Amino acid sequence: MDRDGWEGGRLLINLATIAENYAQLSARVSPAECGAAVKANAYGLGLKEVGQTLYEAGCRTFFVAHLAEGAALRPLVGEDSRIFVLHGPPPGTANACLTHNLLPVLNSLQQVQEWQALAHAQGRPLAAALQVDSGMSRFGLTEAEVDYLATQPQALAGIEVTLVMSHLACADTPDHPLNRQQLNAFIKLKQRLPAAPASLAASSGIFLGPEWHFDLVRPGAALYGIAPTAGQPNPMHATLRLQARVIQTRQVPAGASVGYGAAFTARQPTPVALLGIGYGDGFPRRLGQKGFVIYPDWPDIKLPIIGRISMDSLAVDLSPLVAAGVALPPAGAVFDLIGPHAPLDDVAHLADTIAYELLTDLGARYHRLHYDPRKG
Ligand SMILES: Cc1ncc(COP(=O)(O)O)c(C=O)c1O
Repeated sequence: MDRDGWEGGRLLINLATIAENYAQLSARVSPAECGAAVKANAYGLGLKEVGQTLYEAGCRTFFVAHLAEGAALRPLVGEDSRIFVLHGPPPGTANACLTHNLLPVLNSLQQVQEWQALAHAQGRPLAAALQVDSGMSRFGLTEAEVDYLATQPQALAGIEVTLVMSHLACADTPDHPLNRQQLNAFIKLKQRLPAAPASLAASSGIFLGPEWHFDLVRPGAALYGIAPTAGQPNPMHATLRLQARVIQTRQVPAGASVGYGAAFTARQPTPVALLGIGYGDGFPRRLGQKGFVIYPDWPDIKLPIIGRISMDSLAVDLSPLVAAGVALPPAGAVFDLIGPHAPLDDVAHLADTIAYELLTDLGARYHRLHYDPRKG
């Protein structure tokens, strides 16, 4: 550990901007309720800090993928909040939802029947969400299964349907015809089920317009600063900065290669910084020879990542700094890999992936620093 308590890479997570993003989305969808998807450790940003921040910002409906995520979230947010488990309970585990005060999303007839059996055993109705498949062919009841539930009077007995939901496949592409097809299919399917609040939109769906909002929206990505609509300016605040320290700098002579596979060869004497972050931290290996980093005091100068990215380090060409007359950064200097001048979505794009994957891949080795400028 160095003097500031971190080595390698660190993630700076601004909780105030997550709260601002929540407020912005809430205002946009009002009078619909704005929930929050906090699955996968709040997209890698930290379930505890993000969950508590969203609760303080007024969020009362949370979505996780797994029961275990819901159980971890339960003590972090108030009892007046609902936690929906998107995958529903795995076979034989429905009881755990009651133990942890979680609401299952029932995606199949089997899940419906298990929840019903539990309600029967408890001798009281049990609340749950029903998910219908409106055209993504992922989770949810098919049209035939909805028909079955609609026509068999006992099929939902004992289940208090608190939400009917579905998920959009192409919402980040507003012109895609599937958006309206899914909207129409959802309206039709939910009419066949018991009257209950409805939810269709996640981040991108919110920006399709009020028709898609229904009673509750379920953003994740937009809360964390990911652009909701492909090719459009991003209205959300960035929430994350990824930094790494220089371990050493070296002069690479002309003709020498850098890193594994000798993928980069210096054409002229080249000043190089080795940063202590690599694919072992979840930083994409595909950014070798493609990505760039920023020396924060010189934010307009992009410094190319050269050679292959190693497990624990990567090499950066400092020539553009030298050309600008800047003194070479000393060992310990801090560079931005994601930040104000290296936006998350742009870095993901360069790595041939999406910001969701980049965020959720960011590994356990980082020093994660959550801060809240509102709280001093
Ligand atoms: C069912 C469901 N709802 C909400 C979300 C949140 O989506 P987003 O992060 O795009 O807002 C997801 C994420 O994949 C999801 O699967």
